[in-house]
Amino acid sequence: MFLLLLLVSYLIGSIPTALIVGKLFFGVDIRELGSKNPGATNTLRVLGKKSAVFVLLIDLGKGSLAASLPLIFHLNAEPMYFGLAAVVGHCFPIFAGFRGGKAIATTAGALLVAHLPLLVIAYLIFFLVIFLTKYVFWGSISVGFSMFIYDFYSAKLDFELIFLLFSFLLIYLHRSNIRNFILGIEPKINDKNLKND
Ligand code: G3P
Repeated sequence: MFLLLLLVSYLIGSIPTALIVGKLFFGVDIRELGSKNPGATNTLRVLGKKSAVFVLLIDLGKGSLAASLPLIFHLNAEPMYFGLAAVVGHCFPIFAGFRGGKAIATTAGALLVAHLPLLVIAYLIFFLVIFLTKYVFWGSISVGFSMFIYDFYSAKLDFELIFLLFSFLLIYLHRSNIRNFILGIEPKINDKNLKND
């Protein structure tokens, strides 16, 4: 049952929301536009606010639904395992050639169900970092390290190693943002220009 629900979680996470919205309502492949990332931030950048809110809510919902599976199926297991399986699906979706998003919305959805205090702390830091730097990707990268440091000191989830690996996965997923930042072409949050990397 544990492995089956992990697989279901991965499949839920694999639903490529931004890609579907782009193709269905705009006839475009979001992976060819803006930052080319099929996530809420790039949806806002290239498809507008309404689509971005929709993508954000569905991507959040994927993490929350996956983390709820043990409760729904009366399995005595840590919900975060399933939330993280959905995050892996979101980042490496089987339904979209394994070219997925950068984890932030789906991780928030997973934490909403699995560990609310960690959601509050990690995403307060996320918004604070964006406010201070004006770059979304620095906020996103901070999420993994906040999760690791929180768990390291509180030992609430016992996920230190997983969260540390997740932190490095976030750096890997944001490598084009880091490269663009070094080149001086990464757009700030209030930047209206599309980037073409
Ligand atoms: O959450 C996604 C964000 O960290 C980066 O998105 O589109 O600027 O690459 P984007």
